[in-house]
Amino acid sequence: MRVFITGTDTDIGKTLISAWLCAQLKATYYKPIQCGLPADADTVAALSGQPVWPSNYSFNQAVSPHLAAEQSGTVISLSAITPPSIKDTPACIGEGAGGVLVPINPSGDTLLTIMEHLNWPVIVVARSTLGTINHTCLTIQALKGAGLSVLGVVLNGPPNPHNVAAIEYYGKVPILAQVPLLHSEPPAPCFPATTATSPLKNKPADLPPSNLALAQWVQQTPLPAALKNAMQLPATC
Ligand SMILES: Nc1ncnc2c1ncn2[C@@H]1O[C@H](COP(=O)(O)OP(=O)(O)OP(=O)(O)O)[C@@H](O)[C@H]1O
Ligand SMILES: [Mg+2]
Repeated sequence: MRVFITGTDTDIGKTLISAWLCAQLKATYYKPIQCGLPADADTVAALSGQPVWPSNYSFNQAVSPHLAAEQSGTVISLSAITPPSIKDTPACIGEGAGGVLVPINPSGDTLLTIMEHLNWPVIVVARSTLGTINHTCLTIQALKGAGLSVLGVVLNGPPNPHNVAAIEYYGKVPILAQVPLLHSEPPAPCFPATTATSPLKNKPADLPPSNLALAQWVQQTPLPAALKNAMQLPATC
């Protein structure tokens, strides 16, 4: 089972949703390109307690991958984007960087090109509030235009039934889950995590209080039926 988590923007909740899926499905996590610190893989490991794979490219700069690579004197190549095999990990959740048309190299490749390269089914994370219909439908259009399977959308933020209805009608994809605002404290950095090649060290108890609330939600909230159906998971999962 493989799913790739993309979003309408940076900071939209892709890592939180990835951690949720990893925790609930006992899946590992793979982020092909990481820009900025702390690494999302460290956050996912700390929130979910699940193993994470090393990124193929990691940059300290919190900027677009094309710029981070340029500033680091390297060029991101699709051939180096190598996900873990099914044999290594039967269940794996992938995460992009920013949105679908974020550039990764001077050849014009984008996160969408990476998703085409991987060809995993995709879930879009979008905010629930005003403006989301346009961003979400544009994202869906780009994904479908590239021939990717779009399982649906996870809306993050205060519930907004009108936006749920509009995205399902105009975007022609289901809303798989609605994630509420979970806490109002500023996020604290997670402890560094280990990777899937070595034993886990992070436990939710190691987390600072603001992230502990997120970890508890991630580990204790079952996936809704719509999300499990879209991923063709058994109801008991
Ligand atoms: N529903 C929520 N309730 C509370 N905090 C949230 C919620 N969703 C996201 N956050 C917080 O917002 C911040 C951004 O979320 P997240 O890191 O998941 O975004 P992202 O889309 O993965 O960003 P990036 O493009 O950098 O990978 C994090 O600090 C996260 O804990
Ligand atoms: Mg992220």
